[in-house]
Amino acid sequence: MPRLAQCYGTADYEDAARRRLPRPLFDYICGAADDEKTAAANVASFDRYDLVPRYMADVTRVSAATRVLGCDLEWPLILAPTGMSRMFHPDGEQGVAIAASDAGCGYALSTMATASIEEIGAISAGPKIYQLYLLADDALNFASIDRCKAAGFDALCLTVDTIVAGNRERDLRSGLTVPPRLTPTSLASFATRPGWCLGYLGGGKFSLPNVTADGGGDLSTLAAFFASKMESHISWERIAKIAAYWGGPFAIKGLQCADDALRAADAGASAVIISNHGGRQLDGGAAMIDIVADIVDAVGDRVEVILDGGVRRGSHIVKAIAMGAHACMTGRPYLYALSAFGTAGVERWLGGIKQETLRTMALIGCATLAEVSREHVRLAGAAP
Ligand code: FNR
Repeated sequence: MPRLAQCYGTADYEDAARRRLPRPLFDYICGAADDEKTAAANVASFDRYDLVPRYMADVTRVSAATRVLGCDLEWPLILAPTGMSRMFHPDGEQGVAIAASDAGCGYALSTMATASIEEIGAISAGPKIYQLYLLADDALNFASIDRCKAAGFDALCLTVDTIVAGNRERDLRSGLTVPPRLTPTSLASFATRPGWCLGYLGGGKFSLPNVTADGGGDLSTLAAFFASKMESHISWERIAKIAAYWGGPFAIKGLQCADDALRAADAGASAVIISNHGGRQLDGGAAMIDIVADIVDAVGDRVEVILDGGVRRGSHIVKAIAMGAHACMTGRPYLYALSAFGTAGVERWLGGIKQETLRTMALIGCATLAEVSREHVRLAGAAP
């Protein structure tokens, strides 16, 4: 197991998480749907674009500060919503939210979180976003939105790409239940990671405090939850109702085409999060960096565009901004850092990717995000 001080890039934290977590849990984070091709393409496709440095610019002071979804960000990164972080480390969502707020990036709390809207509201100065999964009962959706308003959340994002559960074969093979249950099979893999076991068992009860109005969401398994509560038909009319009830900065997460992005604007969204859920839902779709420019061109200034999926380096963030995205989201990397080292891991990982972003901007000759443009990227192998 490497020490935290030996971790630099995202791959180091992934390696550390692989060594600390029981294999089924590492696979739950890392894995994706079907053949995992879209998940791999999300990352690999960043290499299809080369950065084009321009020299002799004054980059004595570089700032990546921006405002997206009503949130002031020190650099254009938002930690994507991920469910049940306390499965991986007892610091859980609270640790991630504190690290994000201290680093000046955004944090999106999941409906499926093991920390409540109120707990995150109390410990994080922000910027904070609440991610809603649409439940069939609008009274529950509205109750969550009321709680977000009371807890000082800056923005709401509605995830629309989980209308059915993705086919994640690593989880089927390992027999992982979410949350993990001790069975003769799981015991064999959990026992190989005593450090995780102690932290997990000391982490307290598992519940979904954001699912019901009284904060007492009952959870036997994630699959049971999905089957019992989720809305099975999300319509544009329903979305417009949610956006109007919230009344603040509102994003739809999981769109992949320009027409849906335009319809999102019509429905009241102020941002679209271009995402394939990290390849965990539909396999066989595009990599996000390949489609972001077309969507940016189609929507103009009607909505902000946030790229989600495959971001592992500061240079990836800069490539997305050069294509026209307003910000990026990332999921697995901070979960690896949390799993291996808790809050301190997330803090160090965030510090690293922030410095990578600022260094890349300096190296391509841009002192502000406004200066980063399509002039700074070209298709790999294209004539200069
Ligand atoms: C997710 N994701 C997710 N998305 C969402 O809207 N609500 C959720 O509760 C979750 N839960 C979740 C759990 C885990 C373990 C992972 C890895 C992902 C998807 C997430 O928000 C984001 O779209 C992807 O993680 C982006 O891809 P990268 O950055 O992991 O490549």
